[in-house]
Amino acid sequence: MTKISNRAENIIAPSLLASNPARFGSEAERAGRSGADWLHLDIMDGHFVPNISFGPQVVKAIRPLTTLFFDVHLMVSKPEILLEPFAQAGADEMIIHVELGEQVPSLIEKIKELGKKVGLALNPPTPFAVVQPFLDQIDLLLVMTVNPGFGGQEFIRETIPKIQLAEARRRDKQLSYRISVDGGINCQTATECVLAGADTFVAGTSLFGPGSIKSRVTKMRQIINR
Ligand code: DX5
Ligand code: ZN
Repeated sequence: MTKISNRAENIIAPSLLASNPARFGSEAERAGRSGADWLHLDIMDGHFVPNISFGPQVVKAIRPLTTLFFDVHLMVSKPEILLEPFAQAGADEMIIHVELGEQVPSLIEKIKELGKKVGLALNPPTPFAVVQPFLDQIDLLLVMTVNPGFGGQEFIRETIPKIQLAEARRRDKQLSYRISVDGGINCQTATECVLAGADTFVAGTSLFGPGSIKSRVTKMRQIINR
């Protein structure tokens, strides 16, 4: 049984990409014991982004190790060939990128047919207007706060107006998608994002690493719920 997404609360989603890849299983378990809500899984194909991470086999292998909601972020050029394998591997939500253009409507449909939550991501240079036609069809909007491809990058502050726009649009149209931020999120930048309207916080480098993820999750939660 995996956790249900619930927009009433702020969500903290540690990104497994920042953990030790030699120990993905125990790192996923560590995240599961940390008090975090979701596990964010970054899938990179070496084409849509200049890096390769891991595939459905890894997701399937860690699925039995935690009850965390699996938030699968597809930074890939051909999600159509991967949606089914990730659904079968145990994804709860699949996020595709709006930069894929004309494929986006059919990808959204396919994710829904598979019975999974739908996320839509936009990169820092992509204007908010590009996601607007899809806002009534998605469960989550992922505002990338770094250019995707690597963990450990610096938060791009110029993305904050897009979070504000996403929040204003959600309120005006009485929609219910979550607003997630991803890239360079730590206690300082999470504060800026929560003030702009974000409710879902993906964090890799600031949560993983030696020592207690639990204390870092607790601290981040106190800050974003303030
Ligand atoms: C970047 C990924 C992020 C990344 C975040 O391409 O989408 O999810 O893991 O890592 P940090 O928090 O280290 O910026
Ligand atoms: Zn991500």
